[in-house]
Amino acid sequence: MKANLKNIALRWTFLIIVFLVVEIYAFQAFKTVFKNNWTLKIYLAFNALIICNLIYRLIVINNNSLDFSDVFYNYLSIPFAIVFTLFGFKLIISSFLFIEDSSRLFIFFYKSFFSATESNSFFVQRRNFISKISILAAALPIPFVLHGIFKGRHNYRVINYELEFDDLPEKFDGYKLTHISDIHSGSLQETNKVEYAVDLINKQNSDLVLFTGDFVNNKANELNKWKRVFSKIESRDGKYSVLGNHDYGDYVSWKYKGDKKKNFLDLLSIQAEMGFKLLLNENIKIGSESQSISLVGVENWGKGGFKKKGDIDKACEGLTKNDFKIVMSHDPSHWDKILKNHNTRFHLTLSGHTHGMQFGIEIPGLIKWSPVKWVYKYWAGLYHEKNQFLNVNRGFGVLGFPGRVGVWPEISVITLKKV
Ligand SMILES: [Fe+2]
Repeated sequence: MKANLKNIALRWTFLIIVFLVVEIYAFQAFKTVFKNNWTLKIYLAFNALIICNLIYRLIVINNNSLDFSDVFYNYLSIPFAIVFTLFGFKLIISSFLFIEDSSRLFIFFYKSFFSATESNSFFVQRRNFISKISILAAALPIPFVLHGIFKGRHNYRVINYELEFDDLPEKFDGYKLTHISDIHSGSLQETNKVEYAVDLINKQNSDLVLFTGDFVNNKANELNKWKRVFSKIESRDGKYSVLGNHDYGDYVSWKYKGDKKKNFLDLLSIQAEMGFKLLLNENIKIGSESQSISLVGVENWGKGGFKKKGDIDKACEGLTKNDFKIVMSHDPSHWDKILKNHNTRFHLTLSGHTHGMQFGIEIPGLIKWSPVKWVYKYWAGLYHEKNQFLNVNRGFGVLGFPGRVGVWPEISVITLKKV
């Protein structure tokens, strides 16, 4: 217990020192570059304004006894994002100046040792130059972050794929699936933008709409505001869904015993109300007795600490080797660790979960990069291994950071072709 407290104290001390160093360096850089007083005053006033705004909102939440997980996206997500962006800006400035100071210290000791002297004006000039460069470099990402918050999160993209299979039943040649994932209703804000995205889904005129989990962040009631909109999603042969790790209510503390169970049952009934047939480790045949494809839906299965309720063997009960199988599994690590190596061939697996970290650089045919690739081998787009396909949808909504930079919300449209 004592060791634990000591660790917490040490961690906080370290964080406070880093915070202070960053603030002092950033202020010094501004002072060096902008000699006039009013620029400094604007800088300080802006800092005070965003901090006061955040504190004010926290007080309002506290005074009204609001649940943090219910109100995060309405009250706090953008103020927090701006505070973090500003801190990132200062961190970049500090890194430049810290490197300069370290090298200056090194040179100081070196020169003292060899009794050499150096003009002070050279250091002043260099400090000025490095301060300017650091402010410029730190300011470069800001427009991208702001675009990500106010525009990028709604920059819906339709991505089309045509996949060929030798054993696709004849009748399904040209069959069209729309794959969506990770709606995260609690983070959605602008109704007209979400309605536009639902129209875009409907315009694909698909045979099936398949949703691969995370309808909510934490609670089923996040969908109350949106169920009318998502009910409008249309498809000829139905809408099917599976659960994601966020759909179980695991990431929020429940006041009364039984609340979590009730929340889960509410989510199931709202999904049914919206016309989604939820597949919980089960399969369903689409088509006729003689010509069909099998839709296999598993519960969440994720590597590491994520819930592992997905049971592919149970979900495949009643299926034969010859059935054409489309698997819906929220987390692509399920495909990586289990499905692609299974003794059954899963023709196509649909996943989501990664959101492509809502941040990355993607230029089709040229570059596809996001830091999330260090955590998930299969993190966005189409993969083909061992004669099986995996599509990892980049997600519809957002979680945590209320925006998207370079990795846009996605509607995947997959046409099955027989060869
Ligand atoms: Fe998600």
